[in-house]
Amino acid sequence: MRLTRTSDLWWKNAVVYCLDVETFRDGDGDGCGDFRGLTQKIDHLERLGVTCIWLMPFYPSPDRDDGYDITDFYGVDPRLGTLGDFVEFVRTARDRGMRVIADLVVNHTSDRHPWFRDARASRDSRYRDWYVWADEPPADGPKGVVFPDKEDSLWQYDEHTGQYYLHRFYKHQPDLNVANPEVRDEIARIMGFWMELGLSGFRVDAVPFMLETSGQTDASRLPDPHDYLADLRSFLSRRNGEAILLGEVNLPYADTMPFYGGADGEELTMCFDFVGMQKMYLALARRDARPLAEALTARPTPPKDGHWATFVRNHDELTLDQLSDAERQEVFEAFGPEPGMRLYGRGLRRRLPPTLGGDLERLKMVYSLLFSLPGTPVLFYGEEIGMGEDPEAEGRQAVRTPMQWRPGRGAGFSEAEPSRFPARVVQGRYGPDHVSVAAQRRDPGSLLSWIRMLIERYRENPELAWGDFTVLDTGSESVLAHRCTYEGGTVVALHNFSADAVEVGLVLDGFDSSWSLTDLLGEGTTEIAPDGRAVIGLDGHGCRWLRPRPTGA
Ligand code: NOJ
Repeated sequence: MRLTRTSDLWWKNAVVYCLDVETFRDGDGDGCGDFRGLTQKIDHLERLGVTCIWLMPFYPSPDRDDGYDITDFYGVDPRLGTLGDFVEFVRTARDRGMRVIADLVVNHTSDRHPWFRDARASRDSRYRDWYVWADEPPADGPKGVVFPDKEDSLWQYDEHTGQYYLHRFYKHQPDLNVANPEVRDEIARIMGFWMELGLSGFRVDAVPFMLETSGQTDASRLPDPHDYLADLRSFLSRRNGEAILLGEVNLPYADTMPFYGGADGEELTMCFDFVGMQKMYLALARRDARPLAEALTARPTPPKDGHWATFVRNHDELTLDQLSDAERQEVFEAFGPEPGMRLYGRGLRRRLPPTLGGDLERLKMVYSLLFSLPGTPVLFYGEEIGMGEDPEAEGRQAVRTPMQWRPGRGAGFSEAEPSRFPARVVQGRYGPDHVSVAAQRRDPGSLLSWIRMLIERYRENPELAWGDFTVLDTGSESVLAHRCTYEGGTVVALHNFSADAVEVGLVLDGFDSSWSLTDLLGEGTTEIAPDGRAVIGLDGHGCRWLRPRPTGA
């Protein structure tokens, strides 16, 4: 192993953990999560094996889009603490070997941001041109409302100045005008500010929307969006050579690739694998591994030091928009049979454990996939213990409930009266009396122990993160087998999507009977035949990670 290279490109075998400070842990007893509470809970993240914490927006905000509507890019929302608390947290995370990245939300601001307040005061205002205005919504402008339950247009008429402003998301989130060089400079300043305070990069919100300039009139000032993204990346790297941009680009693979840049990978460091995630749900719904195998085979390799970021669940609706209508319908029928479980006609507002009926073996199989498939795994807080959702909460808030640390009304999230919490604690079967860190910590059979073990194995076996990847033929529709090879080492992983036990045959090129396969997730050895064939048994929803070792070694 070339250790220098592996530690320089730290994101390639990172374990990213996404959390919202507001719902993680209340440190001052006022009912709202805060940086002090998060810092108190750093041991949990360290024990789990997290290497990078992704903070959802913590900036001052009227909170009409859970903090994705910002009124000050240079501060901490007072409910969550102070800049001092933020720096203490980043410093503590560093001490425990964890880097911190945060959401960079610069496609838009809140309509209460002082820039927008000024911009809408008059057509001549200092900040007018920081936003996108038009006398009429332009015919060649951007298309597609993101929140169809709340908005029916991307343009909102401003009575006072008699023009429309662009808002890709809610109308209270006016889009910033990146065609304006002053806005571009300000975005760089924001990044520079937070890197100076210790951030190792950003999860960049809504990248294609942020770069979109269609429909704008002053063509001479419009930058090439990809040149602009490359500029941002080089600014980032000049300030901090190890910093990354992890981009939200939910597009088909072919349209996502340009966001990595060219052969030098000069734009985003990582993009989320939205396609692979959605095909995994289709595979689970069908109990047939092929949709996922096909996606992984079709998935291009990012250029140079780029990497995919893989995930099972994020903080939004579980979008299924990259599936065909018929495929989406199949997933809806399997995992969201009731209309209230769905959102925007394209996604689910559920977490994974309830969708799988709480089947622990199946859940364990899914997380084994997450940590063995190529790409950097990203966990959403609470996944490690199998938290459920609150169906009573509004829209996407269903999956953004307080972290469940221990049994009891407040779930160990806060000692305050639960009516003061930012969101209701999950009730019933997935509530804290049944699902909590405290209950699972010392239980070797728990999901938490399983995920901790997977993370340990993933970090110990560099082939998984760094290796070349191939899907192997198993002759079984329900089993996905893949092989990762790196610097002479090989790891093979198998996952059974069906509830029935199965035995599959694999041919492992380059191996013969002088080798046998050692289980990495449990005990056991499997022989390899002289022609490289191995016969491997899997339980229903079983999974195995195997390493060929010279027999007798
Ligand atoms: C994507 C974020 O993930 C989502 O939560 C947010 O509502 C929109 N961007 C707007 O910022």
